[in-house]
Amino acid sequence: LARKNILHMLTPLRHMSPFDVNMALDAGYDAVVPYTGVETGDVAGLVQDAIFSRPPDAGPRTGIFIAGKDAGTALDMFKAAKKALVKPFELSIFADPAGSFTTAAAMVAKVEKALSAKFDRSLKDTSVTIFGATGVVGYCTAVIAAGEGARVTLSGHDGVRRVQGVADDIAKRFDLRVEAADGSSKAAIEKLAESAQLMLCAARAGMRVIDADGLRKAGSLLIAADVNAVPPSGVEGVAVDADCVPIEGTKALGIGPLAIGNVKYKTEFGLFRKMIDSDATLALDFRDAFALARDIAK
Ligand SMILES: NC(=O)c1ccc[n+]([C@@H]2O[C@H](COP(=O)([O-])OP(=O)(O)OC[C@H]3O[C@@H](n4cnc5c(N)ncnc54)[C@H](OP(=O)(O)O)[C@@H]3O)[C@@H](O)[C@H]2O)c1
Repeated sequence: LARKNILHMLTPLRHMSPFDVNMALDAGYDAVVPYTGVETGDVAGLVQDAIFSRPPDAGPRTGIFIAGKDAGTALDMFKAAKKALVKPFELSIFADPAGSFTTAAAMVAKVEKALSAKFDRSLKDTSVTIFGATGVVGYCTAVIAAGEGARVTLSGHDGVRRVQGVADDIAKRFDLRVEAADGSSKAAIEKLAESAQLMLCAARAGMRVIDADGLRKAGSLLIAADVNAVPPSGVEGVAVDADCVPIEGTKALGIGPLAIGNVKYKTEFGLFRKMIDSDATLALDFRDAFALARDIAK
């Protein structure tokens, strides 16, 4: 009798994301069960309840998915889930809060591919300004880009204080240095634009972050990427379906949310498939998302 693939989906929020539920079922899970209002302290108990009810060889057929809206909380829950495993009783774990790990992975992978193909360079030592860095997607984008050796600056739309907190958190968790800067006025954003080679926009949906005036001042800009699909675009002149399209009035190329979303979708779907197909248990976070997104973006 073939074992069923069962996915337990945990979120600290009131609702599990229908996006992730659909994605998991479409990828091939036989059953997905949402658990809402979950706190980090609840994770060990839930994981052990799941592992001890099936024989050890069912470990790879049992999964935990960690959702939510906060990268730090999801990473803490991920750690707690791994710590709760009791060999030989194990299961697979995948964290992707608000789709942010796979979205950030897709954005950085698309930009990295374009940098290599169009400008013959890598992320290493490239200046990257990130907008929306107090959000989950922006946070993860910063971690992935800094991990690849980029010189990352977080733009704070309400001043430097909160993005400095994000930079401190990234330093503590990952031992990576990123800068925090004021992005609270048009003048402050234009100043940041002057030195940016890459602009990665993960701001709130429907929020224009930089307009054509600002882009004209971005003399070193190579690529601007935007994940916001709700008009107006985060970066003026970058269409939703732009995939390395020149941005009018600049020498830079634009990558829009649909081109990124296409890689994001395949990455999240692909990581669910990886768990379903694997004969061993897996623990998947943004690092695995970026590895797969890179393959997909190639
Ligand atoms: N294309 C795709 O496949 C895909 C997938 C998932 C998400 N997305 C998009 O990715 C974006 C980020 O998602 P998220 O979940 O990280 O959202 P989020 O948690 O709401 O974060 C959005 C960020 O934008 C900031 N923000 C708010 N007002 C701003 C302003 N006036 N100027 C600049 N930044 C501002 C927020 O700051 P505060 O902390 O002050 O709120 C936060 O840092 C959204 O546009 C979302 O729709 C795209």
